[in-house]
Amino acid sequence: MFDSFNRRINYLRISVTDRCNLRCTYCMPAEGIQLIPRERILTSEEILEITRVAVDLGVTKVRITGGEPLVRRRMVELVEAMANMDGIEDFGMTTNAIALPEFAKPLRDAGLHRLNISLDTVDPDRYRELTRCGDLVDAIAGIDAAIAAGFDLIKLNCVIQESSDEPDALGVAAFGKERGLQVRFIRKMNLATGEFWQVDGGDGGKCSTCSRLRLSSDGKLYPCLFSDLCYDVRELGIEPAIHAALEGKPLSGHKATREFNTLGG
Ligand code: 5AD
Ligand code: SF4
Repeated sequence: MFDSFNRRINYLRISVTDRCNLRCTYCMPAEGIQLIPRERILTSEEILEITRVAVDLGVTKVRITGGEPLVRRRMVELVEAMANMDGIEDFGMTTNAIALPEFAKPLRDAGLHRLNISLDTVDPDRYRELTRCGDLVDAIAGIDAAIAAGFDLIKLNCVIQESSDEPDALGVAAFGKERGLQVRFIRKMNLATGEFWQVDGGDGGKCSTCSRLRLSSDGKLYPCLFSDLCYDVRELGIEPAIHAALEGKPLSGHKATREFNTLGG
């Protein structure tokens, strides 16, 4: 499928929850977030149906995001059902790795292809500070469980302030090298002020070739991360909402009033 600027749209990012077991400073405000009421969260059946329609219309790449996807119940079952869907060539998840000691192997066995793991520092004190509550030991145990589970590809996402020469970034680079994992440095973005950058070695932030639609955990299709435009799948119906999102997808992003946790970046 194509948007109104003739960009091919083949990538659907699905946020399965806005909840998280961490509180990264750049993702959630200190005062906490207004959570989506549970009854508005899409069911697994709805998520699968929306994905099915999107895949029939031309989506070949699917990524599960959050919040933190692994705090949603029955994630392995959802991943398995999605992995069995014909037409998905590339199937990944973005996670903070905290729950991977439990879930890495089941997710791999369920058919997930690859993982992007968030890791912004390998200094335990800094990790606790940046995530406001996380224990680096858990994250590293999760990363090692993912390596042992044999995913096709594991990337580390490292959010940086300004440059990849910062001490935290250098530490993550060295850790990535040690474990044989690719590290992607992502400059901290700000939705409210519209500061966003291209992601090194990825397609994120390149408006002219953007191939994405995003689905929030309460069933809204967002054609652009840096815009408040969205189309409610339950209100409009799945296919009309997808077409509206394609038509409405802006040429480039500007800013948005959401927090990162609603769409997972
Ligand atoms: N800027 C850049 N990336 C962010 N993420 C979350 N918040 C931000 C932000 N403000 C991305 C990170 C993290 C993933 C879950 O979302 O890459 O790894
Ligand atoms: Fe949770 Fe990821 Fe947001 Fe951190 S960036 S609070 S791990 S959703």
